[in-house]
Amino acid sequence: MKETIILGIETSCDETSAAVLAGDRLLSNVISSQIDIHRRFGGVVPEIASRNHLTAILPVIDEALEKAGVSKRELDAIGVTYGAGLVGALLVGVSAAKAFAYSLGIPLYAVNHIEAHIAANYISTPELKPPFLAVVASGGHTGVCRVDGLNSFTMIASTTDDAIGEAFDKVARAVGLPYPGGPEIDRRAKLGTANINFIEHKNRHRNGELSYSGLKTAVVNYLHNLEQRGDTPNVDDICASFQKTAVDMLVDVAAAEIKRSGIKTVVAAGGVSANSYLRARLKEEGERIGANVYFPPMSLCTDNAAMVAVRARDMIKENIPAARLDLNAASYLKITGAGDGR
Ligand code: KG4
Ligand code: ZN
Repeated sequence: MKETIILGIETSCDETSAAVLAGDRLLSNVISSQIDIHRRFGGVVPEIASRNHLTAILPVIDEALEKAGVSKRELDAIGVTYGAGLVGALLVGVSAAKAFAYSLGIPLYAVNHIEAHIAANYISTPELKPPFLAVVASGGHTGVCRVDGLNSFTMIASTTDDAIGEAFDKVARAVGLPYPGGPEIDRRAKLGTANINFIEHKNRHRNGELSYSGLKTAVVNYLHNLEQRGDTPNVDDICASFQKTAVDMLVDVAAAEIKRSGIKTVVAAGGVSANSYLRARLKEEGERIGANVYFPPMSLCTDNAAMVAVRARDMIKENIPAARLDLNAASYLKITGAGDGR
Protein backbone atom coordinates (compact mmCIF):
# COMPACT_ATOMS: atom_id res chain seq x y z
CA MET A 1 0.00 0.00 0.00
CA LYS A 2 1.22 3.51 -0.83
CA GLU A 3 2.44 5.53 2.16
CA THR A 4 0.28 8.49 3.17
CA ILE A 5 2.18 11.71 2.42
CA ILE A 6 1.28 14.59 4.72
CA LEU A 7 2.26 18.26 4.61
CA GLY A 8 2.38 19.75 8.13
CA ILE A 9 2.08 23.51 8.68
CA GLU A 10 2.81 25.43 11.90
CA THR A 11 2.46 29.20 12.47
CA SER A 12 1.12 29.49 16.04
CA CYS A 13 3.75 31.89 17.38
CA ASP A 14 7.05 33.10 15.91
CA GLU A 15 8.22 30.14 13.82
CA THR A 16 6.92 29.56 10.30
CA SER A 17 7.36 25.87 9.63
CA ALA A 18 6.41 23.23 7.06
CA ALA A 19 7.27 19.53 7.04
CA VAL A 20 6.64 16.50 4.87
CA LEU A 21 5.96 13.09 6.39
CA ALA A 22 5.66 9.90 4.30
CA GLY A 23 4.20 7.12 6.44
CA ASP A 24 6.52 7.12 9.45
CA ARG A 25 9.42 8.80 7.63
CA LEU A 26 10.06 12.49 8.15
CA LEU A 27 11.29 13.76 4.78
CA SER A 28 11.73 17.44 5.66
CA ASN A 29 11.13 19.92 8.48
CA VAL A 30 11.84 23.54 7.49
CA ILE A 31 11.69 26.15 10.26
CA SER A 32 11.99 29.87 9.61
CA SER A 33 12.38 31.65 12.93
CA GLN A 34 11.38 35.27 13.59
CA ILE A 35 13.30 35.41 16.87
CA ASP A 36 15.75 38.05 15.60
CA ILE A 37 12.86 40.29 14.52
CA HIS A 38 11.04 40.12 17.88
CA ARG A 39 14.17 40.30 20.03
CA ARG A 40 14.39 44.07 19.78
CA PHE A 41 10.86 44.35 21.25
CA GLY A 42 11.66 41.97 24.13
CA GLY A 43 8.92 39.52 23.10
CA VAL A 44 6.64 38.42 20.27
CA VAL A 45 4.62 41.29 18.76
CA PRO A 46 1.50 39.53 17.37
CA GLU A 47 0.91 41.87 14.40
CA ILE A 48 4.55 41.66 13.30
CA ALA A 49 4.46 37.88 13.69
CA SER A 50 1.42 37.61 11.36
CA ARG A 51 3.01 39.82 8.71
CA ASN A 52 6.21 37.80 8.75
CA HIS A 53 4.31 34.52 8.56
CA LEU A 54 2.59 35.91 5.46
CA THR A 55 5.86 36.51 3.63
CA ALA A 56 7.50 33.30 4.84
CA ILE A 57 4.71 30.74 4.49
CA LEU A 58 4.85 29.93 0.76
CA PRO A 59 8.68 29.87 0.46
CA VAL A 60 8.83 27.65 3.57
CA ILE A 61 6.24 25.23 2.14
CA ASP A 62 8.05 25.17 -1.23
CA GLU A 63 11.36 24.45 0.50
CA ALA A 64 9.83 21.64 2.59
CA LEU A 65 8.40 20.01 -0.55
CA GLU A 66 11.65 20.47 -2.45
CA LYS A 67 13.80 19.02 0.35
CA ALA A 68 11.42 16.07 0.60
CA GLY A 69 11.50 15.54 -3.18
CA VAL A 70 7.70 15.54 -3.18
CA SER A 71 5.45 17.47 -5.56
CA LYS A 72 2.21 19.10 -4.41
CA ARG A 73 0.21 16.58 -6.45
CA GLU A 74 1.71 13.70 -4.45
CA LEU A 75 0.33 15.02 -1.15
CA ASP A 76 -2.48 12.97 0.42
CA ALA A 77 -3.40 15.27 3.32
CA ILE A 78 -2.57 18.54 5.07
CA GLY A 79 -2.24 18.98 8.83
CA VAL A 80 -2.25 22.48 10.29
CA THR A 81 -2.04 23.91 13.81
CA TYR A 82 -5.33 25.76 14.40
CA GLY A 83 -4.76 26.50 18.12
CA ALA A 84 -3.70 27.31 20.72
CA GLY A 85 -1.65 30.35 19.83
CA LEU A 86 -1.79 33.88 18.46
CA VAL A 87 -4.93 34.09 16.34
CA GLY A 88 -3.44 36.36 13.64
CA ALA A 89 -0.39 34.11 13.36
CA LEU A 90 -2.43 30.89 13.31
CA LEU A 91 -4.72 32.27 10.60
CA VAL A 92 -1.82 32.53 8.15
CA GLY A 93 -1.08 28.81 8.45
CA VAL A 94 -4.77 27.87 8.52
CA SER A 95 -5.52 29.95 5.40
CA ALA A 96 -2.55 28.52 3.49
CA ALA A 97 -3.55 24.99 4.54
CA LYS A 98 -7.15 25.50 3.41
CA ALA A 99 -6.00 26.85 0.03
CA PHE A 100 -3.73 23.83 -0.52
CA ALA A 101 -6.38 21.35 0.62
CA TYR A 102 -9.08 22.93 -1.54
CA SER A 103 -7.01 23.31 -4.69
CA LEU A 104 -5.46 19.85 -4.42
CA GLY A 105 -8.74 18.21 -3.38
CA ILE A 106 -7.21 16.56 -0.30
CA PRO A 107 -8.37 16.46 3.35
CA LEU A 108 -7.31 19.03 5.92
CA TYR A 109 -6.68 18.04 9.57
CA ALA A 110 -7.04 20.59 12.36
CA VAL A 111 -4.20 19.95 14.78
CA ASN A 112 -4.06 20.96 18.45
CA HIS A 113 -0.60 22.46 19.09
CA ILE A 114 0.00 20.76 22.42
CA GLU A 115 -1.11 17.35 21.15
CA ALA A 116 1.42 17.94 18.36
CA HIS A 117 4.18 18.73 20.89
CA ILE A 118 3.41 15.42 22.60
CA ALA A 119 3.33 13.62 19.21
CA ALA A 120 6.86 14.90 18.44
CA ASN A 121 8.01 12.02 20.64
CA TYR A 122 6.70 9.46 18.13
CA ILE A 123 9.34 10.73 15.68
CA SER A 124 12.26 10.56 18.10
CA THR A 125 11.11 7.39 19.89
CA PRO A 126 9.38 5.25 17.22
CA GLU A 127 8.77 2.40 19.69
CA LEU A 128 6.75 4.75 21.95
CA LYS A 129 3.19 3.51 22.55
CA PRO A 130 0.44 4.69 24.91
CA PRO A 131 -0.14 4.56 27.79
CA PHE A 132 2.47 7.10 28.83
CA LEU A 133 2.71 10.35 30.74
CA ALA A 134 3.74 13.55 28.96
CA VAL A 135 5.39 16.32 30.94
CA VAL A 136 4.15 19.35 29.03
CA ALA A 137 6.33 22.44 29.37
CA SER A 138 5.81 25.17 26.79
CA GLY A 139 5.26 28.90 26.55
CA GLY A 140 1.50 28.48 26.95
CA HIS A 141 0.94 25.17 28.77
CA THR A 142 2.42 23.37 31.75
CA GLY A 143 1.43 20.16 33.44
CA VAL A 144 1.30 16.41 33.16
CA CYS A 145 -0.86 14.76 30.54
CA ARG A 146 -1.90 11.13 30.59
CA VAL A 147 -1.89 9.64 27.08
CA ASP A 148 -3.94 6.43 26.93
CA GLY A 149 -4.25 6.12 23.17
CA LEU A 150 -3.41 7.93 19.94
CA ASN A 151 -6.41 10.12 20.59
CA SER A 152 -6.78 9.99 24.35
CA PHE A 153 -5.24 12.89 26.28
CA THR A 154 -6.15 13.75 29.88
CA MET A 155 -4.49 16.62 31.70
CA ILE A 156 -4.01 15.42 35.26
CA ALA A 157 -2.03 18.34 36.62
CA SER A 158 -1.70 21.75 35.08
CA THR A 159 -0.64 25.21 36.09
CA THR A 160 -3.30 27.34 37.73
CA ASP A 161 -1.82 30.55 36.30
CA ASP A 162 1.29 31.24 34.18
CA ALA A 163 2.98 28.60 32.02
CA ILE A 164 6.57 27.66 32.81
CA GLY A 165 7.94 29.10 29.53
CA GLU A 166 6.11 32.35 30.18
CA ALA A 167 7.78 32.51 33.61
CA PHE A 168 11.20 31.86 32.05
CA ASP A 169 10.63 34.65 29.51
CA LYS A 170 9.30 37.15 32.08
CA VAL A 171 12.09 36.49 34.59
CA ALA A 172 14.68 36.79 31.81
CA ARG A 173 13.23 40.14 30.86
CA ALA A 174 13.26 41.30 34.48
CA VAL A 175 16.99 40.54 34.79
CA GLY A 176 17.74 42.16 31.43
CA LEU A 177 18.28 39.08 29.26
CA PRO A 178 17.10 39.08 25.63
CA TYR A 179 14.07 37.28 24.17
CA PRO A 180 13.46 34.35 24.21
CA GLY A 181 14.44 34.13 27.84
CA GLY A 182 14.32 30.35 28.29
CA PRO A 183 17.55 29.46 26.47
CA GLU A 184 19.30 32.52 28.00
CA ILE A 185 18.36 31.48 31.55
CA ASP A 186 19.46 27.92 30.77
CA ARG A 187 22.87 29.24 29.67
CA ARG A 188 23.37 31.71 32.53
CA ALA A 189 22.17 29.23 35.17
CA LYS A 190 25.16 27.01 34.34
CA LEU A 191 27.45 29.86 35.46
CA GLY A 192 25.66 30.43 38.77
CA THR A 193 24.66 28.73 42.01
CA ALA A 194 21.08 28.05 43.07
CA ASN A 195 21.53 29.81 46.41
CA ILE A 196 18.43 32.05 46.51
CA ASN A 197 15.25 30.68 48.05
CA PHE A 198 12.48 32.42 46.11
CA ILE A 199 9.59 30.35 47.47
CA GLU A 200 9.36 28.19 50.56
CA HIS A 201 9.38 24.57 49.43
CA LYS A 202 6.14 23.79 51.27
CA ASN A 203 4.32 26.51 49.29
CA ARG A 204 5.50 25.34 45.89
CA HIS A 205 2.72 23.00 44.86
CA ARG A 206 -0.10 22.69 47.30
CA ASN A 207 -2.45 19.80 46.46
CA GLY A 208 -0.24 18.86 43.51
CA GLU A 209 -1.15 22.11 41.77
CA LEU A 210 1.40 23.98 39.73
CA SER A 211 1.68 27.76 39.86
CA TYR A 212 4.32 30.00 38.30
CA SER A 213 2.94 33.45 38.85
CA GLY A 214 4.06 33.58 42.51
CA LEU A 215 7.58 32.48 41.62
CA LYS A 216 7.87 35.14 38.93
CA THR A 217 6.64 37.81 41.39
CA ALA A 218 9.12 36.57 44.02
CA VAL A 219 12.00 37.12 41.57
CA VAL A 220 10.72 40.59 40.66
CA ASN A 221 10.36 41.53 44.37
CA TYR A 222 13.86 40.23 45.06
CA LEU A 223 15.21 42.47 42.29
CA HIS A 224 13.33 45.51 43.67
CA ASN A 225 14.74 44.91 47.15
CA LEU A 226 18.26 44.75 45.78
CA GLU A 227 17.69 47.92 43.79
CA GLN A 228 16.39 49.78 46.84
CA ARG A 229 19.50 48.77 48.77
CA GLY A 230 21.67 49.84 45.86
CA ASP A 231 23.02 46.28 45.39
CA THR A 232 23.83 44.73 42.01
CA PRO A 233 21.99 41.50 41.23
CA ASN A 234 23.99 38.37 40.47
CA VAL A 235 22.16 37.36 37.29
CA ASP A 236 23.79 33.93 37.09
CA ASP A 237 22.69 33.00 40.63
CA ILE A 238 19.19 34.38 40.05
CA CYS A 239 18.89 32.29 36.85
CA ALA A 240 20.18 29.13 38.57
CA SER A 241 17.84 29.62 41.55
CA PHE A 242 14.76 30.47 39.49
CA GLN A 243 15.38 27.60 37.04
CA LYS A 244 15.86 25.10 39.87
CA THR A 245 12.63 26.13 41.60
CA ALA A 246 10.59 26.25 38.36
CA VAL A 247 11.82 22.89 37.10
CA ASP A 248 11.85 21.05 40.46
CA MET A 249 8.21 22.03 40.95
CA LEU A 250 7.21 20.38 37.67
CA VAL A 251 9.46 17.34 38.15
CA ASP A 252 8.02 16.80 41.67
CA VAL A 253 4.47 16.85 40.30
CA ALA A 254 5.48 14.51 37.44
CA ALA A 255 7.16 12.10 39.88
CA ALA A 256 4.01 12.03 42.05
CA GLU A 257 1.89 11.24 38.96
CA ILE A 258 4.26 8.46 37.86
CA LYS A 259 3.96 6.85 41.29
CA ARG A 260 0.20 7.38 41.54
CA SER A 261 -0.60 6.10 38.02
CA GLY A 262 1.96 3.31 37.92
CA ILE A 263 2.73 4.39 34.31
CA LYS A 264 6.45 3.94 33.82
CA THR A 265 6.89 5.56 30.41
CA VAL A 266 7.36 9.31 30.41
CA VAL A 267 8.01 11.81 27.62
CA ALA A 268 8.67 15.53 27.66
CA ALA A 269 6.92 17.97 25.33
CA GLY A 270 7.13 21.68 24.48
CA GLY A 271 9.83 24.31 24.19
CA VAL A 272 10.95 24.18 27.83
CA SER A 273 11.74 20.47 27.43
CA ALA A 274 14.87 21.76 25.66
CA ASN A 275 16.03 23.01 29.09
CA SER A 276 19.20 21.19 30.15
CA TYR A 277 18.34 21.18 33.86
CA LEU A 278 14.81 19.86 33.21
CA ARG A 279 16.22 17.09 31.02
CA ALA A 280 18.78 16.11 33.66
CA ARG A 281 16.32 16.23 36.57
CA LEU A 282 13.58 14.29 34.80
CA LYS A 283 16.07 11.63 33.69
CA GLU A 284 17.44 11.36 37.25
CA GLU A 285 13.97 11.15 38.79
CA GLY A 286 12.96 8.53 36.19
CA GLU A 287 15.97 6.39 37.10
CA ARG A 288 15.15 6.74 40.80
CA ILE A 289 11.51 5.66 40.32
CA GLY A 290 12.25 3.09 37.62
CA ALA A 291 10.53 4.95 34.75
CA ASN A 292 11.82 5.32 31.19
CA VAL A 293 12.05 8.98 30.22
CA TYR A 294 12.26 10.12 26.58
CA PHE A 295 12.94 13.56 25.14
CA PRO A 296 12.55 14.85 21.60
CA PRO A 297 15.80 16.22 20.13
CA MET A 298 16.19 20.00 20.51
CA SER A 299 14.87 20.71 16.99
CA LEU A 300 11.60 18.94 17.82
CA CYS A 301 11.16 20.52 21.29
CA THR A 302 10.40 24.05 20.12
CA ASP A 303 7.76 24.83 17.49
CA ASN A 304 8.04 22.87 14.25
CA ALA A 305 5.75 21.39 11.60
CA ALA A 306 7.11 17.83 11.82
CA MET A 307 5.14 17.31 15.02
CA VAL A 308 2.03 18.71 13.31
CA ALA A 309 2.35 16.25 10.41
CA VAL A 310 2.79 13.36 12.85
CA ARG A 311 -0.27 14.41 14.82
CA ALA A 312 -2.28 14.60 11.56
CA ARG A 313 -1.04 11.10 10.66
CA ASP A 314 -2.36 9.79 13.99
CA MET A 315 -5.68 11.60 13.52
CA ILE A 316 -6.03 9.82 10.16
CA LYS A 317 -5.17 6.48 11.84
CA GLU A 318 -7.90 7.16 14.42
CA ASN A 319 -10.46 7.95 11.70
CA ILE A 320 -11.00 11.47 12.96
CA PRO A 321 -13.02 13.39 10.38
CA ALA A 322 -11.18 16.01 8.32
CA ALA A 323 -11.79 19.68 9.09
CA ARG A 324 -14.28 21.69 7.10
CA LEU A 325 -12.98 24.55 5.00
CA ASP A 326 -14.58 27.10 7.33
CA LEU A 327 -12.08 26.04 10.01
CA ASN A 328 -11.12 28.99 12.22
CA ALA A 329 -8.09 29.62 14.43
CA ALA A 330 -8.49 29.26 18.21
CA SER A 331 -6.42 31.23 20.71
CA TYR A 332 -7.20 28.74 23.47
CA LEU A 333 -7.79 25.00 23.25
CA LYS A 334 -8.10 22.29 25.85
CA ILE A 335 -6.03 19.15 25.41
CA THR A 336 -8.76 16.61 24.88
CA GLY A 337 -7.99 14.80 21.67
CA ALA A 338 -9.27 16.18 18.40
CA GLY A 339 -12.84 17.28 18.31
CA ASP A 340 -13.01 21.04 18.55
CA GLY A 341 -13.11 23.40 15.64
CA ARG A 342 -13.86 20.85 12.97
O1 KG4 B 1 6.75 25.12 22.70
P1 KG4 B 1 7.29 26.45 22.41
O2 KG4 B 1 8.33 26.57 21.34
O3 KG4 B 1 6.13 27.43 22.06
C1 KG4 B 1 4.90 27.32 22.69
O4 KG4 B 1 4.13 26.42 22.32
O5 KG4 B 1 4.68 28.10 23.64
O6 KG4 B 1 7.86 27.00 23.77
C2 KG4 B 1 8.45 28.27 23.83
C3 KG4 B 1 9.01 28.45 25.21
C4 KG4 B 1 9.54 29.86 25.43
O7 KG4 B 1 9.00 30.34 26.63
C5 KG4 B 1 11.04 29.65 25.53
O8 KG4 B 1 11.67 30.59 26.36
C6 KG4 B 1 11.11 28.25 26.12
O9 KG4 B 1 10.12 27.55 25.42
N1 KG4 B 1 12.42 27.59 25.94
C7 KG4 B 1 13.21 27.26 26.98
C8 KG4 B 1 14.39 26.72 26.43
N2 KG4 B 1 14.27 26.72 25.07
C9 KG4 B 1 13.04 27.27 24.79
N3 KG4 B 1 13.02 27.39 28.31
C10 KG4 B 1 14.00 26.98 29.11
N4 KG4 B 1 15.18 26.46 28.66
C11 KG4 B 1 15.41 26.30 27.34
N5 KG4 B 1 16.57 25.79 26.91
ZN1 ZN C 1 4.84 25.21 21.05
